[in-house]
Amino acid sequence: MKSHLLLPMIGIFVFIVNAQKQEGFISLDCGLPIDESPYDDPYNGLTFTSDSNYIQTGKIGKVEKDAMTTFARQYLTLRYFPEGKRNCYNLNVKRGTNYLISVSILYGNYDGLNIDPNFDLYLGPNKWARVDMEGRPNGISEDIIHKARSNSLDICVVKTGTTSPLVSTIEIRPLRNDTYVTQSGSLALSFRAYYTNSGDQIRYADDVHDRVWYPFFDTSFKQITTSLNINNSGTYEVPKTVLKNAATPRNASEPLLIAWLPKPANAQVYLYMHFAEIEALKANETREFNVILKGNFNHSGFSPPKLELHTLYTGVPVQCDSEGCNLQLVKTSNSTLPPLINAFEAYTVIEFPQVETSQSDVITIKDIKANYELSKISWQGDPCLPQNISWDNLRCTYVDVSTPPRIISLNLSQSGLTGSIAISLQNLTLLQELDLSNNSLSGPVPIFLAKMKSLSLLNLIGNNLNGSVPQALLDREKEGLVLKLEGNPDLCRFSSCNPKKPKKFLIPAIASVASLLIVGVVVALICVFKKKKVPSASDAHDSPPSKPAVDDGDNNKLESSFLSKKIRFSYLEVQEMTNNFERALGEGGFGVVYHGSVNGSQQVAVKLLSQSSSQGYKHFKAEVDLLLRVHHINLVSLVGYCNEGRHLALIYEYMPNGDLKQQLSGKPGGFVLSWESRLKIAVDAALGLEYLHTGCKPPMVHRDIKTTNILLDRNFQAKLADFGLSRSFSDGNETYVSTVVAGTPGYLDPEYYKTNWLTEKSDIYSFGIVLLEIITNRPIIQQSREKLNLVEWVSFMVSKGDLRNIMDPNLHQNYDKGSVWKAIEIAMSCVSPSSARRPNMSRVANDLKDCLAAENSRVREGRERESKSSMEFSVDIYTDMIPKAR
Ligand SMILES: *[C@@H]1O[C@H](CO)[C@@H](O)[C@H](O)[C@H]1NC(C)=O
Ligand SMILES: *[C@@H]1O[C@H](CO)[C@@H](O)[C@H](O)[C@H]1NC(C)=O
Ligand SMILES: *[C@@H]1O[C@H](CO)[C@@H](O)[C@H](O)[C@H]1NC(C)=O
Ligand SMILES: *[C@@H]1O[C@H](CO)[C@@H](O)[C@H](O)[C@H]1NC(C)=O
Ligand SMILES: *[C@@H]1O[C@H](CO)[C@@H](O)[C@H](O)[C@H]1NC(C)=O
Ligand SMILES: *[C@@H]1O[C@H](CO)[C@@H](O)[C@H](O)[C@H]1NC(C)=O
Ligand SMILES: *[C@@H]1O[C@H](CO)[C@@H](O)[C@H](O)[C@H]1NC(C)=O
Ligand SMILES: *[C@@H]1O[C@H](CO)[C@@H](O)[C@H](O)[C@H]1NC(C)=O
Ligand SMILES: *[C@@H]1O[C@H](CO)[C@@H](O)[C@H](O)[C@H]1NC(C)=O
Repeated sequence: MKSHLLLPMIGIFVFIVNAQKQEGFISLDCGLPIDESPYDDPYNGLTFTSDSNYIQTGKIGKVEKDAMTTFARQYLTLRYFPEGKRNCYNLNVKRGTNYLISVSILYGNYDGLNIDPNFDLYLGPNKWARVDMEGRPNGISEDIIHKARSNSLDICVVKTGTTSPLVSTIEIRPLRNDTYVTQSGSLALSFRAYYTNSGDQIRYADDVHDRVWYPFFDTSFKQITTSLNINNSGTYEVPKTVLKNAATPRNASEPLLIAWLPKPANAQVYLYMHFAEIEALKANETREFNVILKGNFNHSGFSPPKLELHTLYTGVPVQCDSEGCNLQLVKTSNSTLPPLINAFEAYTVIEFPQVETSQSDVITIKDIKANYELSKISWQGDPCLPQNISWDNLRCTYVDVSTPPRIISLNLSQSGLTGSIAISLQNLTLLQELDLSNNSLSGPVPIFLAKMKSLSLLNLIGNNLNGSVPQALLDREKEGLVLKLEGNPDLCRFSSCNPKKPKKFLIPAIASVASLLIVGVVVALICVFKKKKVPSASDAHDSPPSKPAVDDGDNNKLESSFLSKKIRFSYLEVQEMTNNFERALGEGGFGVVYHGSVNGSQQVAVKLLSQSSSQGYKHFKAEVDLLLRVHHINLVSLVGYCNEGRHLALIYEYMPNGDLKQQLSGKPGGFVLSWESRLKIAVDAALGLEYLHTGCKPPMVHRDIKTTNILLDRNFQAKLADFGLSRSFSDGNETYVSTVVAGTPGYLDPEYYKTNWLTEKSDIYSFGIVLLEIITNRPIIQQSREKLNLVEWVSFMVSKGDLRNIMDPNLHQNYDKGSVWKAIEIAMSCVSPSSARRPNMSRVANDLKDCLAAENSRVREGRERESKSSMEFSVDIYTDMIPKAR
């Protein structure tokens, strides 16, 4: 009895030009061209509009010619979906309103293939119906009464086989909230009939709610009708044109029977029976009957009110037995007239147990989709549900069906995003991973990212972001946030900030953590020549450990040049700043390095020199002397020192990204420093060294260049550290002959080792070794190698032209080959056995800059082409190591 015929065009309809507003109606003629939208249906006055504002996908089709003349206009065009697993209409509704939702599908051989399609129909995250058009030449209408759970309703078609889903019309009608109330679930229409042997479908405008009433009759019925006016203003508002018809049993002594098979057989059923007495009863006549649904529902002694609608319904769901549902209207013993019925509706309950994704997440992700004009085919319908057709590029948490899923990961890598980082992202409050890498995002890195409490991974690699990274975000990094910022050439983490731009950071909540250390560094960028205080070797050797290297008088002079910034600290203060040496960052031959903070904000690394080491005192003195007068962006800066009795401590700026060796080892998070980053670090280190060699008066030799002495700040800017072995040498005719050769094996210039003749060229040798490590990421000495020594091994490989083997395999050939050859050439010239043949540091720095430029342009081109798979420029940061103790 399930009536699923679509409204035919032929029929005796009166076009009622009426003023009823179709309030809250949505009537979509799917596939209707925009320029024909809207139009009024000539038979019922319903205003149909094109569906194009409610869906972005699908193609427009038209039923074949034969069907054109048979069906009403709204069924002639359709939208079909050859692409994507799920396609969804998104409609604005009112949360809590009970809606009658009707979706019609008429295949009409629109594609000429004559293959009846089948697919699934979903309401939001829940499956609503299986649609199989086989044997349905007149189409299908799926009707449901459903209470909106939010202000947005997704009606989706999901491909289940090879055929493309399609939709002809979508109609949504608000109902009164006191009708069709269920204990739970929504109501799928089994049938809605009125009893007439000569009628047609009745819907709007007769029915103010546009329920479609199908005519039904049976030979066991007798029809009665009236032309009198019927009061239908009861709750269910059944149309008068429906109510003026009724059926009674042909044999007046028999009951009136209505039987049907619900699907599935054990479905929960709700019934709505509409009655009105439409016969004029004489004084001695009565009509009284019992309404019985076997085993479920008894309503005895019912007499329909005269010319007035009365609806009997099941307030609770009923279940029919295996023979189906069997409704009997049985006349009571003293009734003179047989039972009567005017109209009847049967529904089965569909439970939609799965609640939708958290509305704020849905609103936000849709806002992001709109903001970036994303046209991802899977981004339709509920973002997280159903799980197997959820949106690509995001992940959700699922607890149970009654808990709204939440979005926890969003990956818009390589999605062609432009503009700024959308502020609405902050409303994804449970987001743990956000990958916006390899897009064209511009503007600053917004501070709200720091306030996203759940965020543990933020990847902004490969964009055009600029400005400085908010301090609050960098602070989050220390709490474990994985922050990836590489490949943003104008972003401050990798180059010096425009000093004119004031740094704004420190939201109160995180204010307790460090502020930036800019203080002393900027004050004196120029090397001050203090000939007297330049330590000589003998000086250092002769100083007993107990004797302060820097006396009070000198301190005063030094401090005055630092604009009253305090640089000398008492031991008590050192204890306080390290919270009584609570957190060690590393340990070495000359002492342990602790984490600390000055003024409760500026983070520092405190190297406490071991009291037993006389070498320690020498290094302390050398370092204080050098660092207090030498300032360069690529040299680690000294915040202060402590020299109190036997307590010697050096207080440095804190370098959150540890040293180059750690970064090359991939330990901090298993990420690989890209070739671009490596070159950047090499250039930084070269500039620091160049400054020591040529910018300072007198020039300095570092004497201990190695990967563990190249530290990385939060922006991965490299800074040279550990000047304990540094010595001055004259840039003129004088050279310095040291009594003791110092340095680290492997990095030590063989010529210096042999001759004890110290020049800046020894640093260049060590720097060459560092460069080879950057290139190869291999140990300097390795027994198992064809050539045990890295220098020999590289030159052996170079002679074979084997670039791929030389290069760190972790880079997966993601580099500009020219820049690599050039870098190898630079490195090999630096490690030339004869110091005379080594280039000077200015030359090295310039050549490395050329390499970086070549690699930069490759990376940028790659990004522009949006070419191949991911470029690995990931760098990562977990550790906080700084001036590493040796
Ligand atoms: C129905 O809606 C009216 C107002 O529109 C409201 O006052 C009433 O509480 C609602 N009833 C139910 C059962 O939701
Ligand atoms: C129609 O019936 C309702 C109750 O269902 C009643 O309140 C109303 O007065 C009736 N109207 C007329 C015109 O009898
Ligand atoms: C009407 O039904 C009664 C009881 O079932 C039966 O006895 C009678 O013969 C029926 N009349 C006709 C005309 O079928
Ligand atoms: C009811 O009364 C009418 C006369 O008014 C009579 O013709 C009819 O037979 C009576 N019907 C019954 C069932 O008594
Ligand atoms: C309905 O009435 C019949 C007797 O007429 C009784 O056997 C049955 O239990 C009743 N069912 C319900 C659900 O009240
Ligand atoms: C029979 O009908 C009369 C009046 O129509 C009513 O008062 C009485 O209760 C009914 N008897 C039964 C058993 O239903
Ligand atoms: C998704 O999973 C459900 C079962 O959980 C299955 O019935 C359905 O076919 C799947 N849909 C797709 C598109 O894979
Ligand atoms: C994001 O997707 C890209 C591929 O499109 C993948 O390489 C990357 O690892 C993903 N990021 C995360 C955080 O899963
Ligand atoms: C984000 O949340 C705030 C506060 O709840 C709200 O005012 C704003 O409209 C939301 N933005 C989006 C895009 O959802």
